Amino acid sequence: MGEGPELVVASAPGKCILFGEHAVVYGQPAVAVAIEQRLTVSMTPATSWSVDGSALDENKHPHITMLKDIWLHEAPPMALHISGDIPRASGLGSSAALSSAVGAAMHHLAHPEKGIDRDGLSALAHRAEAHAQGGRASPMDASTSVEGGVVVLSDHKETIGKWMYTRQLTTPEGKRTWEVHKLTPHHDDIYLVLGNTGVHAPTAKQVTMVADALAADPSRMNEIKAIGTVARRGLAALVQGDYEAVGHAMIENHLLLRNLGVSSPELETLIQAAAPSSLGVKLTGAGGGGCMVALTRDPKQTSEAIELAGGRALISHIGNEGVRLES
Ligand code: PMV
Repeated sequence: MGEGPELVVASAPGKCILFGEHAVVYGQPAVAVAIEQRLTVSMTPATSWSVDGSALDENKHPHITMLKDIWLHEAPPMALHISGDIPRASGLGSSAALSSAVGAAMHHLAHPEKGIDRDGLSALAHRAEAHAQGGRASPMDASTSVEGGVVVLSDHKETIGKWMYTRQLTTPEGKRTWEVHKLTPHHDDIYLVLGNTGVHAPTAKQVTMVADALAADPSRMNEIKAIGTVARRGLAALVQGDYEAVGHAMIENHLLLRNLGVSSPELETLIQAAAPSSLGVKLTGAGGGGCMVALTRDPKQTSEAIELAGGRALISHIGNEGVRLES
């Protein structure tokens, strides 16, 4: 248990993939936005390291252990308390938000005189993700949670948005490189409604399923390239603030993902329910369960439709602030 005054509090947003999931694994562009839902960590001095009342454990808390070993290796122990409104294991980036908030809090304790180094922090949060996921993780979640706004990933530098940095990771399948860019969205009267199926489908299983389908029929790489083409179209529309065209691209992106075999009956039910009140609807993240996303000007009506169809709805603007220190 923590005792004494709070030493540091940091928060970080979750993310939602608007375009390009799965295809990004094969080098196509992908677009993610930081959502309003956040994870908050507070750290107070204590007699031993703990997380929400249980002892810090390398197996249970791999992200936190890795960050602690980097920044607070010799520091006195702290009690961490985690709270927030990002559903866990639903494709909304809760684990990257944990790495980014804990990283910012620990970095502040270790170097109170320095501000948040977003490049360094997102690289470390990406490493923590990869460490916790058996060496396979794109920097999408970590960069979106740390930087906020809209983040674009590609295997080459894009002309749209501001290029920020290159990320590399040696995965079990070989070395991978991503160019990471940031956009600031228009502040329009437009919302995302996220519909959670409550079904948990591990990302690794979904990614393997796609890899097996491509190995069985290499001509299906055309479907991956088509997702890339749609993602570029959606991104261009987003930059122009043409949300009707963004919605169309989302619908096309979903049809390609469904054809690839990564949707699920639960996702289809929520998507069908949200479609009439939305500009665009699609699954978001690895699929098989998890969440769908709707782009809408009427978030109340879309949320109600999702909830009536059995989902849990969350409302967010497009692009929110990245990791920040709260105190
Ligand atoms: O649901 P998430 O956030 O784990 O989405 C994974 C996105 C994939 O493209 C399927 C995998 C990846 O590493 O980019």
